[in-house]
Amino acid sequence: MRIAFVGKGGSGKTTSAAVFSRYLAELGRPVLAIDADINQHLGQALGYDGPPPRALGSDLPWLKDHLRGTNPRIASAAAMIKTTPPGRGSLLLDLDPDGELLQRFSVQAGGVRHLVTGEFDEADIGVSCYHSRPARWSCTSTTSSTAPASTWSST
Ligand SMILES: Nc1ncnc2c1ncn2[C@@H]1O[C@H](COP(=O)(O)OP(=O)(O)OP(=O)(O)O)[C@@H](O)[C@H]1O
Ligand SMILES: [Mg+2]
Repeated sequence: MRIAFVGKGGSGKTTSAAVFSRYLAELGRPVLAIDADINQHLGQALGYDGPPPRALGSDLPWLKDHLRGTNPRIASAAAMIKTTPPGRGSLLLDLDPDGELLQRFSVQAGGVRHLVTGEFDEADIGVSCYHSRPARWSCTSTTSSTAPASTWSST
């Protein structure tokens, strides 16, 4: 299940996402909390005070290459554009904490596995989430599943 916390500035998105994520984690559910907010404070709200996690947007070539997997329709990471859909052979972001993507980008924060998209720049402001730079691969703030290794598609 994917759950997004959206709303106007200062409406409580980050606080709600943090509290809800921690609640699910306390219930023993696998949770992946992704901060795609312009103000990247979810880690802090989760109680995390370690070094900042590596941002998904900081290494898009690696991320694209990983997600295209062995999909024969996508010749290279460079050929992958914002709207390229996944297909046979593509990898999707999953909740396996030992998976390559979570090992590379996530940290453990307040009992919750946590990812950040990274800061937005000028060109990202005012565009829809679907097309915005760091969030283009992951529009949700929080995703959780009752299944240990269920996957979800990034957009
Ligand atoms: N349910 C609540 N009751 C009272 N205050 C709240 C509640 N939820 C959040 N707040 C407070 O409102 C302020 C804004 O909350 P938060 O940072 O979660 O909003 P946001 O939508 O993520 O903001 P931004 O758009 O700046 O990212 C914070 O000071 C937070 O402590
Ligand atoms: Mg916020």
